[in-house]
Amino acid sequence: MSNNGLLKSSLAKKYMMALTGLFLCLFLVGHLLGNLQLFITGPEGAETFNLYAKFMTTNPLIKVLSYLTYASVLFHAIDGLVLTIQNRKARPVKYVVEKGSANSSWSSRNMALLGTILLVFIVTHMQHFWYVMHFGEVGHVLIGGESIKDLHTVVVDFFNPSFN
Ligand code: HEM
Repeated sequence: MSNNGLLKSSLAKKYMMALTGLFLCLFLVGHLLGNLQLFITGPEGAETFNLYAKFMTTNPLIKVLSYLTYASVLFHAIDGLVLTIQNRKARPVKYVVEKGSANSSWSSRNMALLGTILLVFIVTHMQHFWYVMHFGEVGHVLIGGESIKDLHTVVVDFFNPSFN
């Protein structure tokens, strides 16, 4: 098989699905750890989170990782769709007896459905926070004499509007 053929093969697509999926899982661990700072109470909690948000949106290395995350989300979704269509075309006639539950979990058999639900969540989630942080109107706070975006209030207001 030529190099070109190998890259287009379903095997290469599956490897890319695995790699981008693993990268997204790692992103999620980092994202969770960063967001746990929201549990720090009082004004220092708000300050810590806002400094963290500023770092995450301005540091050049994090920017590269962010673009890699966006690319992985898109690639994983599109590659998954292409693979599903390819698989269906490769086997147009259904098995007479199909008992997937004998050797696979419900979630592994329903990745396409679960992935689509996650994609809808990610799009609405980015609209609520990422879009507001990058392009929306966000209040500013003074930290160390510097005026920075107050993403803490945006997040706290979203989850608990009566808190502030
Ligand atoms: C309660 C849980 C969560 C909170 C409080 C939260 C909060 C946030 C905030 C504040 C941002 C904007 C950061 C910025 O632009 O600087 C963001 C971005 C993002 N979130 Fe979440 N998030 C949560 C759960 C999740 C989950 C479960 C996923 C994925 C399944 C996710 C995926 C993303 C992605 C892909 C971005 C864009 C990242 C980037 O620009 O590099 N988040 N989130």
